[in-house]
Amino acid sequence: MYNLNSLFTSKNIFLYGCARHAFKASLQLVNLNHDDTVLIPSFICRDLLSSIYENNLRIKFYSVNKNLEPEYLPVDSNIKAVLAVNYFGFPQDLEIFRTYCKKNNCVLIEDNAHGFLSFDQEGTELGRRTNIGFTSFRKIIPVFDGSALFINNYKIQKSEFLKLSPSDARLPFRFILKKFARLIQRNMNIPLIIYLEDLSRLMRLLFTGSRIPKPLKNAEKIIGRPINIHSSSIATLKQLAATLDEERKRRRNLYVKFLKILEDYEVELIFSKLIDNVSPYGLPFIDNNNNIIGIKKIARENGFTCEKWPDLPISIMSSCPDFYKNIYFIDFLE
Ligand SMILES: Cc1ncc(COP(=O)(O)O)c(C=O)c1O
Repeated sequence: MYNLNSLFTSKNIFLYGCARHAFKASLQLVNLNHDDTVLIPSFICRDLLSSIYENNLRIKFYSVNKNLEPEYLPVDSNIKAVLAVNYFGFPQDLEIFRTYCKKNNCVLIEDNAHGFLSFDQEGTELGRRTNIGFTSFRKIIPVFDGSALFINNYKIQKSEFLKLSPSDARLPFRFILKKFARLIQRNMNIPLIIYLEDLSRLMRLLFTGSRIPKPLKNAEKIIGRPINIHSSSIATLKQLAATLDEERKRRRNLYVKFLKILEDYEVELIFSKLIDNVSPYGLPFIDNNNNIIGIKKIARENGFTCEKWPDLPISIMSSCPDFYKNIYFIDFLE
C-alpha cells in the first residue's frame, strides 16, 4: 500500500504549494552560485523556468526524442545541476543522467511532477530514485495544491532549511464549486465536471479570447503561486490514503482502455506499452494527422479532457522539433 504517512512524518520530506517551489528549494539546497547553470529538457512547461530564474541561475536546454528521452546531454563547465523528467508518470531511464552527473560532477534532480503514485519496474517510487526529487499532487488527485520535495540522499547543510506550516487561506470559489460538482458526479453519475469545465471555458473565451488559460506573461520569471501547501490539501490527502492504490489501478485501466480506442486514430503513441507499477498521469500521443477533434470528443464522452502539453519555453519555440508542438494527452484526473 502507498505509504502516505511518510510525507508528513519523514524529516527528509518537505511540502510546498507547488512543484516549482519544491524545485526552487532543491536548487537552494544544492548551494549553487549565482550564474551557475541548470540543465533541463527543452520539452517542458515554461512555468518551470521560474524556479531557476528566481534563484538567479542560468538555464541550458537538452532536447528529447519522440520517446521523451534525451537526444544527448551537452557538456558545459557551468552546469551544476541536471533535471530528469518522468513525463506523464512514466519512469525516465536515468542511466545516461547518472553517467553524465558522475562524470561532470553535477547533482541530478528527479522531476516527478506528473507521477505521484508511480513506481519504476524495480518497485522504487518515482521522485525517490536520485539524491533529490520532487512530486506534485494536484495533477493526480483532486487537491487544491501541493508538492513534496524528497531529500533522498543529500546532506542538508543549511540549518534554515525548515518545514513550512500549511496555509489556511480562503480557497477560491472555483475550486469549492468543482469539489461539490465532483461529489455530485460520483454519487449521481452526472458528468457535472465536464459541464462546469465547458462553462468556465466559455466564460474565459468571452473575457480573454482563449478557451484554455493563457500562460501568464512573466510565467518564466516568477512562480506566482503560494509557497505553503494548503491545509485542505493535506486533509484530503489523508482522507484518500486508503484509496491511493485503487487510484493507480483506475489510471492503469484507463490507459489500457484509451490505448484501444486510439487504435482507430492515426496517432503516434509516446508510450505504447503500460509497464508494471506505472501510474499514468494520462495518455500522451503525437497528433500527426489532425485527428485531435475526434479524440477530444471521445475523451469528453468518457468524462475527460484532452489538451496540448506543454506551453513551451518561449526561447525554444522557433527552433524545437515539430513534434514538440503536436503532443496532446488525455488527462485522467477525475
Ligand atoms: C514536468 C513538470 N514539472 C514541474 C511542473 C510544475 O508543477 P507545479 O505546477 O506544481 O509547480 C510542471 C507543471 O505542469 C510539469 O509539467
